[in-house]
Amino acid sequence: MVCDAGMTTFDADRHATEPAAVPTVSLNDGSAIPQLGFGVFQVPPPDTADVTLAALEAGYRHIDTAQMYGNEAGVGEAVRRSGLDRAQVYLTTKLNNGFHRPDEARRAFDDSLTALGVDAVDLFLIHWPLPTRYDGDFVSTWKTLTEFAADGRARSIGVSNFQIAHLDRIVAETGVTPAVNQIEIHPYWGNETVRAHDAELGIVTEAWSPIAQGGVLGDPVVTGIAEAVGRTPAQVVLRWHIQRGDVVFPKTLTSARMRENLALFDFELSDEQMATLSGLDRGPAGRTGPDPDVFDYIPR
Ligand SMILES: NC(=O)c1ccc[n+]([C@@H]2O[C@H](COP(=O)([O-])OP(=O)(O)OC[C@H]3O[C@@H](n4cnc5c(N)ncnc54)[C@H](OP(=O)(O)O)[C@@H]3O)[C@@H](O)[C@H]2O)c1
Repeated sequence: MVCDAGMTTFDADRHATEPAAVPTVSLNDGSAIPQLGFGVFQVPPPDTADVTLAALEAGYRHIDTAQMYGNEAGVGEAVRRSGLDRAQVYLTTKLNNGFHRPDEARRAFDDSLTALGVDAVDLFLIHWPLPTRYDGDFVSTWKTLTEFAADGRARSIGVSNFQIAHLDRIVAETGVTPAVNQIEIHPYWGNETVRAHDAELGIVTEAWSPIAQGGVLGDPVVTGIAEAVGRTPAQVVLRWHIQRGDVVFPKTLTSARMRENLALFDFELSDEQMATLSGLDRGPAGRTGPDPDVFDYIPR
């Protein structure tokens, strides 16, 4: 993975509203992703267009949604209402758990493009590996995503919540390495072995629930460093991710926090502060979400 921190911004010269100076991270397929984006998990569908539009107006140029969130249409509406060109906004969505069979995946992908109102997405992910479902077959699902990359309707393809064995299997059986692996990471759950394996395979790690849904912000270690550097606890934790080189997309419903979470590029944490935050890792006990090896939820 190459982090081009400070060198480029995402289509910076063509923005209708002033974007933040967000670095891009190079992917193994030759494209690049803004290192900081905006996540819309748990943004209520009726509010998603307004909330996402506020994020675009604040300067975000990377939106992370999913079929499971039920709010792709609101994301697409926000992009259109923003007046930005489609090419100026990096869009990620994810295959829902009920649609892993190839024909279902093809139909669901078409539905995502329709809901978003776009010809192509920048990144399409398998949301969960579901190793205990579909007779343990997530390989044919991954092969199906390679079709979307080949026909250009997904500029990049990747996975989410894949463990080491899942990654090794899809690479060995298809010869195609995902561009990203989106996994839970925050100071209470560093997810270091999967993260290291991603790096070995040339896969960029994306960190979901980067502030543990707010759960790490009251930790005295976090608040102490925040006080020392004159920043908020959320900014300190998000900056920790940025300096580790991972891609993040915190979610918030408020404009003030959107701006706060974007203001990460005019300060630095010392090596000692980075190590202290990494030292909060509780291992798998620190997860806020489910264990991908056993998670088998299929939405009705
Ligand atoms: N692939 C997956 O399986 C998966 C799973 C989970 C999440 N994700 C992705 O990751 C994104 C982020 O994760 P997440 O939404 O679970 O959690 P998160 O970004 O770690 O935290 C969001 C929570 O923190 C609060 N918050 C945000 N900024 C804050 C600030 N500056 N100060 C204090 N509180 C703040 C928000 O409250 P308010 O909204 O009230 O401000 C919200 O309750 C999601 O939106 C989604 O795109 C992916």
